[in-house]
Amino acid sequence: MSLARVDTFAIDGVEARRVWVEADIRRGLSAFAVVGLADKAVREARERVRAALVNSGFVFPQERITVNLAPAYLRKVGPGFDLPVAVAILAASGQLPPDAVAGCAVVGELSLTGEVRAVRGALAVAEAVRRQRLERLLLPRSRAREAALVPEVEVLGVEHLQEAVETLRGEREPAPVPESEPEEPDGLDEPDLSDVRGHNGLIPALEVAAAGGHNLFLHGPPGTGKTMLARRLPSLLPPMTAPEAIEVTRLHSIAGLHGGGLVRRRPFRSPHHTISASGLVGGGGVPTPGEATLAHHGVLFLDELSEFTRPALEALRQPLEDGRVTVVRAQRVMVFPTRVTLVAASNPCPCGRGEAACRCSAADLARHQRRLSGPLLDRIDVSVTVGRPSGAALRSQSAPPSASLRERIVAARERQTARLARHGLTCNAQLDARLLRELSGATPEAHRALYALHDRNRLSARGHGRILRVARTLADLAASDAVLPDHIHQAAALRLDDQSLSVAA
Ligand SMILES: Nc1ncnc2c1ncn2[C@@H]1O[C@H](COP(=O)(O)OP(=O)(O)O)[C@@H](O)[C@H]1O
Ligand SMILES: [Mg+2]
Repeated sequence: MSLARVDTFAIDGVEARRVWVEADIRRGLSAFAVVGLADKAVREARERVRAALVNSGFVFPQERITVNLAPAYLRKVGPGFDLPVAVAILAASGQLPPDAVAGCAVVGELSLTGEVRAVRGALAVAEAVRRQRLERLLLPRSRAREAALVPEVEVLGVEHLQEAVETLRGEREPAPVPESEPEEPDGLDEPDLSDVRGHNGLIPALEVAAAGGHNLFLHGPPGTGKTMLARRLPSLLPPMTAPEAIEVTRLHSIAGLHGGGLVRRRPFRSPHHTISASGLVGGGGVPTPGEATLAHHGVLFLDELSEFTRPALEALRQPLEDGRVTVVRAQRVMVFPTRVTLVAASNPCPCGRGEAACRCSAADLARHQRRLSGPLLDRIDVSVTVGRPSGAALRSQSAPPSASLRERIVAARERQTARLARHGLTCNAQLDARLLRELSGATPEAHRALYALHDRNRLSARGHGRILRVARTLADLAASDAVLPDHIHQAAALRLDDQSLSVAA
């Protein structure tokens, strides 16, 4: 009888958790069993592992093989256990010395010919390898660059089972980690603001939303460019900080949206309005992150806001406020990050014709209004009406190229990040009421201006905070440490109060 153990990792929510693959080979009738809460793909590993071993020139032991995946309570999902199972069998059958796998984590899918195929979540695995103080990570070559983003882990990228074994035995130098691609010039294929005509009046609002990460609501008749404007917001956003880029790469790799290197662009997600609550914020039997998590550090765009289901919009409320979703399952609590800039767009009524031509029933209108005034608009800092531009404006007015606005936006974001870093925040949109009071930098005159507005417009406490937050961003755009009365007035113009919303709806 002989036994071998190989370290691997299972993706659980948005984390990688340590799993041990134990292979036990003993005399008896030829059999191969996989135990330890493995899903179908993992049980099918048996067939792939058997074929891959034989086709790579190794001996598949004709004895009783039991592979156990521990800890048993953790659900093991996906084909990434093929390679560790194969390596464990090779070690248990004496085809690989046991110390060759010591301190080395192994992940990878196998083809029947023994090719090592890409797996999701390489970055999360590499981070966990480091946390667990293992030294090396053997994984598919196409994911080596991603894993190498984590320092202090030796990355062994392989393309074939045979190569994996030779590398582990020390008979072959590990292949060098592929160079990172040359940094692509920003936004080459990204839609640019300069496509938009007749809306130059809206540019300050977009600039503020981009600079401060503020949630943005675009409302107005159909065909005026709301969707168009929303899709151009990413071209204005400041680049991600290094930790933000790592976090987005980890999440997108786990979701299978990306693999290979570092994600550099901020995410932009625009789920269809038929999406379920769990599709939006995450959940399910085997909890998976939702769109809000895939949009983390980027934009979550809800086009035709009033068409989304009430439960979906309700589910988004807390995550928008907290910047994360907590999913509780039998044994443990999972936290999915959801720090997004929400961009919502809506027509004035469901049929979209507006006013005289409107054919909506009273019930339609009531439903529309309920959705709009519901849970989310409370969280919107900047709200603009996208009207129908005049013929002259459409002809003569085109927006400046995004690049010409970006420098000021990037500088404004850098000021925020420097100010907020010690609070673990990066932009003004994340300021809660307490931090806003502490860090707004509003002069006494600015406070007076704010209270004057307050009395005149019957602002709610939330509306009050909203204006101050936006004013802080306007001050950052103007490179001013202090929030001055002028910034308060400009902020108020961007989002007068809750009434402009009821007018809009
Ligand atoms: N202000 C505008 N400038 C340039 N093109 C526009 C403008 N508004 C609308 N369009 C054109 O009309 C199309 C539909 O606009 P869209 O953004 O979908 O409108 P909305 O979302 O407000 O209904 C766009 O793809 C674009 O080609
Ligand atoms: Mg639209």
